[in-house]
Amino acid sequence: MVSLPVSRLSIFPANTAQVLESRKRTFQEWGRGMTLEEYLARDTISDKHEVSRDSRLITWVLAPHDSPGSLDFLCSCETFRRDGLVLKNARPEPANCYGVASVFTPPKHRRRGYAKHMMSLLHWVIAPEESLPTEFPTEWGNRPQRVPGVTPGAFSVLYSDVGPKFYRLCGTLPNQDDGWIVDGPTTTCFNVLKTHEILSSRKKEGRLVWRWLDEASVREAWNEDVSYMEEEMSHSSNCPKPVQFTFLPNKGVAEFQYLRRQYFWEKMDPKPVYWGLCASSSVKASPDPTTFVSWTLDVRPPRSNKLIITRLRVHPDRLQELILEITAFAMKHSVETIEVWNLAKSLLDVSQHLGGTTFFREDHLPCFKWYGSENPEDIAWLWNEKFCWC
Ligand SMILES: CC(C)(COP(=O)(O)OP(=O)(O)OC[C@H]1O[C@@H](n2cnc3c(N)ncnc32)[C@H](O)[C@@H]1OP(=O)(O)O)[C@@H](O)C(=O)NCCC(=O)NCCS
Repeated sequence: MVSLPVSRLSIFPANTAQVLESRKRTFQEWGRGMTLEEYLARDTISDKHEVSRDSRLITWVLAPHDSPGSLDFLCSCETFRRDGLVLKNARPEPANCYGVASVFTPPKHRRRGYAKHMMSLLHWVIAPEESLPTEFPTEWGNRPQRVPGVTPGAFSVLYSDVGPKFYRLCGTLPNQDDGWIVDGPTTTCFNVLKTHEILSSRKKEGRLVWRWLDEASVREAWNEDVSYMEEEMSHSSNCPKPVQFTFLPNKGVAEFQYLRRQYFWEKMDPKPVYWGLCASSSVKASPDPTTFVSWTLDVRPPRSNKLIITRLRVHPDRLQELILEITAFAMKHSVETIEVWNLAKSLLDVSQHLGGTTFFREDHLPCFKWYGSENPEDIAWLWNEKFCWC
């Protein structure tokens, strides 16, 4: 098949038929354990969730300038517009930002530079004007049109399953490697039975009262978490980097982590009803997010069941008690492993004593692109945890 020159191509928001076509294509890659109908139905349900509503989710296609609505588009991806915070001076400022997902080129179009070009063009439709080069490169043809409602973002993030290089090379100009760079791809894993055994044998003193968080109360806890993040960011003087950013877990972002997997966990027996825990002065008191965890369950066959911690705020002295509670929950649901991303440095030592092992992951590498004049080396991604995965 003859490759189309990039000068004839551009990035467009997908029309309804293209969204469906894109989902049918990606089923081959990401539909494990589901039929095509189930996969499409899950996305239709997900479209109604807060994370996607109000045009927060957009599917983009790379297609010829003269047939933007073609169903034979060359590749596609998705963006989720989200709320974040950016700290440059004393106070964190609210920021618009993006999660990028589902980058896909059908096998017949692969290795022709299409995905790379689409991702380069994506900057030109989601980044602020002042962060882009002054001239759109002539060899790329006409500049992509801005789309009404696609408010420029302060940064964008994606999770690479194709190594650290591919997305870095998707720059704002040809042959420029100012694309997305990897940041903090660490995982800590606990074997549930082993850790439970270690912890159960230890002396229990001054135990905390725990409040189990169902769908409604975990949502409430994420809302509270936002204020804490803002507060912590204002006082994050121990962070050596002058600019810091974070996604916020509310407005459907953290919730997406378990709603996305509902098709699988709702078949569990017993069906899970709790999605987090927090320390509390009493079982009825409102959630206290100073000791707080939320999670999702990855129970998709044929792999063994995993509980993935999505948000975690805990003092090192309380980690042991918290993990003990989580292992008890995990055992009830036949979960073998607990996984957490980018555990805070202050928790690493304790986690080792609890049997946790920490390593660099090779997949889902968190990568960010900063849309500002600052050097990426001066940027810190705070709370780079699983809650903002997409
Ligand atoms: C990854 C994917 C999107 C690449 O699409 P593509 O249109 O073939 O990519 P490009 O032609 O633009 O690739 C440009 C360069 O990226 C690199 N690259 C391409 N696919 C790669 C992969 N799977 N792993 C690592 N590097 C890759 C190559 O260096 C390539 O240059 P080359 O062909 O000269 O060697 C496509 O293979 C795909 O859809 N895979 C399945 C879904 C997936 O894994 N998506 C990514 C999720 S993060």
